[in-house]
Amino acid sequence: MSYSIRKDVLNIEKYVAGKPISEVKRELGLDEVIKLASNENPLGCSPKAKEVIMNMINDSALYPDSSSYELKRAIAKKLNVSPEQIFCGAGSDSLIKVLCNTLLESGDETIMGQVTFPRYETSTKLMGAKAIKIPMKNNALDLEAMVDAITDKTKIIWFCNPNNPTGNIFKKADFDKILNKIPDSVIIVMDEAYVEYVVDPDFPDSLELLKNHPNMIILRTFSKAYGLASLRCGYGVASEDLVQYVNRVINPFDVNLFAQNAAVVAIEDDEFLKKVYDTNNVEKEFLYSEFKNLGLEYIETNTNFIMVNLNRDDKPIFDALLKKGIIIRPGFLLDMPQWLRISIGTREQNEKFVKALKEIL
Ligand SMILES: Cc1ncc(COP(=O)(O)O)c(C=O)c1O
Repeated sequence: MSYSIRKDVLNIEKYVAGKPISEVKRELGLDEVIKLASNENPLGCSPKAKEVIMNMINDSALYPDSSSYELKRAIAKKLNVSPEQIFCGAGSDSLIKVLCNTLLESGDETIMGQVTFPRYETSTKLMGAKAIKIPMKNNALDLEAMVDAITDKTKIIWFCNPNNPTGNIFKKADFDKILNKIPDSVIIVMDEAYVEYVVDPDFPDSLELLKNHPNMIILRTFSKAYGLASLRCGYGVASEDLVQYVNRVINPFDVNLFAQNAAVVAIEDDEFLKKVYDTNNVEKEFLYSEFKNLGLEYIETNTNFIMVNLNRDDKPIFDALLKKGIIIRPGFLLDMPQWLRISIGTREQNEKFVKALKEIL
């Protein structure tokens, strides 16, 4: 072999995504498959966004607006910030990598929870930096321990709130206690991919905190509550100064035209978002009560997924559910063996999942 691969690439693993429905159908010869594995929106997207997508099918030949002008304005209006404070990318996944590309040198460190969104670790390592993973406390991020781990080498601290895969949040009062211990030289990333689902009134108001913390970056996405995962569109909010550097690194055409135009409409459709929020809450209660009936411990969630403790090896349960046409996210892939992460679906999907789980257990 005459070519060489960067050692940082040799040091990372390929991401194992939730299995797509088509793959499970193909591999297991099933006609009907339900996916409750990737925290997608079972209600789809705003009908208004759908209409926009249908009407622009003839625009496929055009490059998108590389500045996402209208989208940034729509987000800025919604959040009451300036458009210059917004950056957009092909999902917040893409933006996590962009932040690492922008901020990290070889030998730097970034701090994250032991059980959190795995892309922080991969994107950190890809830059030759070190991922410092802090053990969880009662299945939640240990804020004090995370801040205590800051050294001269720390460049980013990742706060996933609500945290994926545990689904829980840290509260404003607890965050206030540690926030001022974080030096200005460390970038504070608030990954709020599930913010639209949050029910707890004590959830920290990151947009308010951003006003006094120019080293803070908020990440959000159109993939979850807005139901546009396939279009790939996420955004960040930060100080205008930081955003200008981030914008140098984002691929010029990262956000496709369908995503830009659909997101502009989706962010305005409060009626759809309310329906998503209400349905999620009703179905969450349904699953809670079924887990209680089964005597299974679960973590109360502020998201559209629930982590449930099977108290036994999760891999055989995952395989058995798969054979019944139900895709979930097994804990062994999430650093929480014996647990299972289930995305909250429609009532019909949730009933089918519960029935299958009961049969298997
Ligand atoms: C916490 C968190 N952040 C970021 C993402 C990335 O989402 P997307 O790239 O679809 O915007 C996800 C997706 O599951 C997530 O759970």
